[in-house]
Amino acid sequence: MPEKERAFDMAIRYNEEKQVFSLHTKNTTYQMCVGKYGFLLHLYYGKRTEGSMDYLLTYADRGFSGNPYDAGTDRTFSMDALLQEFPTQGNGDFRTACLVVKNSDGTYSCDLRYKEHRIVQGKYAIPALPAVYADENEAETLEIVMADVVTGIEATLCYGVLEELDVITRSVKIVNGGKNDVSLEKVQSACLDFMDGGYDFIHFHGRHGMERVMQRTKSMHGLQSIGSRRGTSSHQHNPFMMVAAEAATEETGDCYGLSLMYSGSFKGEVELDQYNQTRVTIGIQDEMFSYPLAPQEAFYAPEVILSYSEAGFGRLSRNYHNVIRYHVCRGKYKDQQRPVLINNWEATYFDFNDEKIYSIAEQASELGVEMLVLDDGWFGKRDNDYSGLGDWFVNEKKMGGELKGLVEKINALGMKFGIWIEPEMVSEDSELYRKHPDWAFVIPGRRPVRGRSQLVLDFSRKEVVDGIFGQICEVLDGVNVEYIKIDMNRSITDVYSATAGDKNQGAVLYRYVLGVYDFLERLAARYPDMLIEGCSGGGGRFDAGMLYYSPQIWCSDNTDAIERLYIQHGTSFGYPVSSVGSHVSAVPNHQTGRSTSMKTRGVVAMAGSFGYELDLNKISEEEKQMVREQIKEYHKYWNMIHNGNYYRLTDPAVHGEIAAWEFAAADAGEALLNVVTIDTHCNASVQYVKLKGLAPEKVYRIEGEEGIYSGDALMNAGIPVPYMSDEYQAWQVHFIEA
Ligand code: GLA
Repeated sequence: MPEKERAFDMAIRYNEEKQVFSLHTKNTTYQMCVGKYGFLLHLYYGKRTEGSMDYLLTYADRGFSGNPYDAGTDRTFSMDALLQEFPTQGNGDFRTACLVVKNSDGTYSCDLRYKEHRIVQGKYAIPALPAVYADENEAETLEIVMADVVTGIEATLCYGVLEELDVITRSVKIVNGGKNDVSLEKVQSACLDFMDGGYDFIHFHGRHGMERVMQRTKSMHGLQSIGSRRGTSSHQHNPFMMVAAEAATEETGDCYGLSLMYSGSFKGEVELDQYNQTRVTIGIQDEMFSYPLAPQEAFYAPEVILSYSEAGFGRLSRNYHNVIRYHVCRGKYKDQQRPVLINNWEATYFDFNDEKIYSIAEQASELGVEMLVLDDGWFGKRDNDYSGLGDWFVNEKKMGGELKGLVEKINALGMKFGIWIEPEMVSEDSELYRKHPDWAFVIPGRRPVRGRSQLVLDFSRKEVVDGIFGQICEVLDGVNVEYIKIDMNRSITDVYSATAGDKNQGAVLYRYVLGVYDFLERLAARYPDMLIEGCSGGGGRFDAGMLYYSPQIWCSDNTDAIERLYIQHGTSFGYPVSSVGSHVSAVPNHQTGRSTSMKTRGVVAMAGSFGYELDLNKISEEEKQMVREQIKEYHKYWNMIHNGNYYRLTDPAVHGEIAAWEFAAADAGEALLNVVTIDTHCNASVQYVKLKGLAPEKVYRIEGEEGIYSGDALMNAGIPVPYMSDEYQAWQVHFIEA
């Protein structure tokens, strides 16, 4: 089929005659067209194809699916049945919409038609919001401007195509080009319409201490939705989700991912419609959202990272790992080895002083640990979690003086120093709250909901962000702090911004997130060499938005090695191992009471940015020796763990006996196999694991052992896991090319 396409070597092609846009990546194609009357219709997303697929559109006269007025007597053209790129409410499509606009006359309607488009080299950025970045030659951008001629509303749909990575990003800018105020009541960043049904909806739910548990359900007629109303992306649902063919597995089948780069309340939806078509959307949560847009004002929706794999979840995950670690994470530590750290939280909780911290550091440095992180309790009046938040000055009585002295002593041990902060919070018992009670979210006339006995600061206000930022800079300036852990320990309620006015309260939660991003951006700019670790009671704000500012996030407050198997398994679907903060802690574990060996705890924590979270003075000499070895091993395998390919070999929730995962070098020259037993039986059957990502023709040996194995045997027949009689044992072996 001859095509008048813009240029065949472009990732984005436009067929002028048919008005078809094709977005090509190495293995995928995304296609849409300007249909009759200027509606933007979706055609296809999936395995790479050539040529226009507008022949896929079908038209029929269907009862109760109305027709645009322009269609005249043609009753076969209905927005209720056609696939769309950015569905709006009010144009005859009764499925869930991406855009709901309340007009100045109180009506709800918006009718977007194609106006113009641009194709440019490079990847677009979004003002004040995180976005995937790429070099000029690594990405192309398509912007399609859609307009409502009645109100003057314009929506610019942005598509970023990262060809090599099989990634397409989407976001939307809404401009009020009219003369009257309007209000945006719902803005989803992306819609994926499918011509068929039969997709599974896969999402990651959880709770504090058990984040990102995968759930797979069949899509059903009607709307299924997940999301957060907590002001943060939340422990309860993660803003990464997938839809997949019913038969899709780790290795086979069509699957699609949507990762929202946003750290606030969000909503993800899957709707199977009356004609068995599937609509998937994701974006900002529309509950408590009502964004006033005055003439000429613009609203930016957060970015969604889309990817498709024809080869199951494994490949889809690796697409996300690559885009996040190299095109979302930034800063010095994006691809640099992160220091092995020791954090004092589970070692001391609030009960410490400078001497105790120093003694933990001293012992840790002797064993090879590279950084001491001073957690909660070093500032204000903070000996428990009832007071002190908001007072970001050193408690000199507790710390024996200024921070500088302690940092210098720790640096003299050859260790870096890091510190914990929770900038968005305030305790009622604090100097800050006494001085600025209106800085906290409290609805006038109501008593606020407390969470961990604290209130949330109104980060939608610049003066509040400025105030906290200023205090924190005073602590950090002139002191050699090389890491900062940024925490956020409650869900947001009582949203009321004292300076916003009545009309703007529905925009506060969105502006709050922008305020947090502004804070993080300023921090990164002022301290460019600082390693920032995100945290929200562990993994309550583990999202691609946060990873733009912090290349690692404390994965969970649950440090139990066995529970971490499940949490880290779920996390790995949408996020790279390099982003997962993971520590060896004491036994019996403080959250579960379970005891596991030092070896098992080490193997599990190595599937992440590795560290310790216990008092190493309190472990046996034998365990101390193991710590020394673990750190050496982590250094040895670091590159493969952080930059290699990650493979899930079992689903621990399904397998029941073992959890197995693997890191393989990109050139398949080596691999690190990890197995942990999660259940033991008398006279048990043998477990085999099949490796992945090796070269079938290559021959491998296990480091330190006799014998050779062919790559195809290891991948097709597997290898028996040695019998481990005790529960929760770990087996970690290094395969190298023989
Ligand atoms: C949160 C974090 C912990 C620790 C405490 C301190 O729960 O997830 O790691 O920093 O706060 O209060």
